[in-house]
Amino acid sequence: MVNNWTGELIYEGKAKRVYRVNDEFLVMEFKDEVTAFDGARKEHAPSKGRLAAAQTVFLMGLLGRYGIRNHLVDWDGDRKILVRGLRMIPIEVIVRNYAYGSFLKRMPLMKPMTKFSKPIVEFHLKSDELHDPLITMDDIIEAGLANWGQINEIINTALRVNEVLGNYMVSRGLTLVDFKLEFGSDGSNNLVLADELSGDTMRVLINGRHLDKELFRRGASAMDLVKSYEEMNKLLGIPLNT
Ligand code: ADP
Ligand code: CDP
Repeated sequence: MVNNWTGELIYEGKAKRVYRVNDEFLVMEFKDEVTAFDGARKEHAPSKGRLAAAQTVFLMGLLGRYGIRNHLVDWDGDRKILVRGLRMIPIEVIVRNYAYGSFLKRMPLMKPMTKFSKPIVEFHLKSDELHDPLITMDDIIEAGLANWGQINEIINTALRVNEVLGNYMVSRGLTLVDFKLEFGSDGSNNLVLADELSGDTMRVLINGRHLDKELFRRGASAMDLVKSYEEMNKLLGIPLNT
C-alpha cells in the first residue's frame, strides 16, 4: 500500500491537517483540538482526534456498505485516515430532520426540535470569513461551483446518507438531528462524499441529551466533550480499535 501515514503538509484547517501522499491519495490527521464559532473558541482536547477519526471510519464504512461512494481508503487506528484526494466543491451540504441551530435563526416561527415533514437539504458557501452563508442552487450554477447534474446527485446522495445514518442511529436508540457533508470529484468526474462524519459535524441525541459538539458550543469543557465522544462511540457500537 502507498501508505506510510506521512507526506507534505498541504493544509491545516480547524479540525484536521492534510498531507499529500501522491497524486492520488491524501492523509488526514484529526487534531486533538475542538473549535466553535468559526474558530473563535478553541481548546486542546486529548483523544478527540482518535475518537472523531473512529467515528468517521465507522460511519463512512457503513455508507460504503450501502453503496455510497466515499473517499475513505484506510485508517492507522489512531488519528490519521488515508483518503482519495479530490477536487473539492466549496459547499457545505446540510441535512436537517429537526428544527435546530442556524435553521431556527432564519425561521424563528418554528419551535426547536420540531420534526420536519421531510428532511431539508440546504447549501452553504464554505467560507469562515463570511460565516458559511446559505446559498441557492442558482447561486451555485451562476458561480460555476457545480452543474445541475452534480446538484441533483448531491441532493440524492445527501438524502440517502440521511436514511442510512438515521436508520442506524435509531437502531442504537439515538436521534440524528442534522449533519453537514462535503463532496468532491475524482479524476473521472465521479461525485465522491469526502471530509468527515463525526460529533463535530452532526447533532446526535440520546434521550434528548447531546452527544455532539453542541455541548462545547454551549460552554462544556473540552474534556467533557471528549467523554461524550467516548459515550457516542460506545452507543454507536464502534470498537475502540477497528
Ligand atoms: P476546515 O477547512 O473547515 O477548517 P478541516 O480542518 O476539517 O476543515 O480541514 C480539512 C480540509 O480538507 C477541508 O478544507 C476539506 O474541505 C478538505 N477535504 C476533505 N476531504 C478531502 C478530500 N478527499 N480531498 C481533498 N480535500 C478534502
Ligand atoms: O452550528 P450552527 O447552529 O451554526 O449551524 P447549523 O447550520 O445549524 O448546523 C447544522 C449541522 O451541520 C450541525 O450538525 C453542525 O454540526 C454541522 N455543521 C458543520 O459540521 N460545519 C459547519 N461549518 C456548520 C455546520
